[in-house]
Amino acid sequence: MQHRKKLVIANWKMNGNKVLVDTFLNELAELETNCEVVVCPPAIYLSHFQSSSQVSRVFKSGAQNINEHASGAYTGELSVSMLSDIGVEYVIVGHSERRAIFGESDQVVGLKAKAAIAESLHAVICVGETLEERESDNTFKVLDKQLAAIFNELAATDWPNVTIAYEPVWAIGTGKTATPQQAQEVHAYIRQAISQSLGEDKSQMLTILYGGSVNAGNSEELFAQADVDGGLVGGASLKIDEFKQICLNVSAD
Ligand code: PGA
Repeated sequence: MQHRKKLVIANWKMNGNKVLVDTFLNELAELETNCEVVVCPPAIYLSHFQSSSQVSRVFKSGAQNINEHASGAYTGELSVSMLSDIGVEYVIVGHSERRAIFGESDQVVGLKAKAAIAESLHAVICVGETLEERESDNTFKVLDKQLAAIFNELAATDWPNVTIAYEPVWAIGTGKTATPQQAQEVHAYIRQAISQSLGEDKSQMLTILYGGSVNAGNSEELFAQADVDGGLVGGASLKIDEFKQICLNVSAD
């Protein structure tokens, strides 16, 4: 039986500098893990990452965002073809910070995912509820709405190029992690929703990551859950030893 891909993604957000880029490249050079590792530095450093021989051999690079349009008068934005031009293979779309701070709607997130996949990039699509939504018992309703927008834009054939990242907004950057049971419950729900729309085979092959205050201490138990296939890591991905340990905490099937 084919196993689904295990993945750990570093999301540096608007942090880091040239020194951190070089340290990462050097220190991750010998990393041996059971998973694929993707580093998403600020876009300005992507070219530098791509020019290193470690990239593709040990890990891949990804962008934190893209514009959904192919080209044109969108000052300050990056297109998918620019990323593929320099060999970037992954892009995060619909991060909750993009949704909340930059007003990205569910539909725009779907369009971004579609644009990424059309250029053969792998789209890491973030979904997740706020604390208020969880406390009012609306977690699954929110996820249904976020997933529906993705189903609307993507064709069934696009899904091998999709990873879903479940990131409860209340756990991002707060030090409050979802319990392994809470994460598993939502991951299983997402897999079930994918199965209903696209069939059991596609749902079983879909990588679903957990994100939200993942660290070296809590990742092993989170990653041990049946439907948790790795993590999207923010704060802890800026600390090299911690990030390495997180990657090592992904177990083989
Ligand atoms: P965090 O961020 O690990 O700092 O909570 C995760 C994310 O935003 O992807």
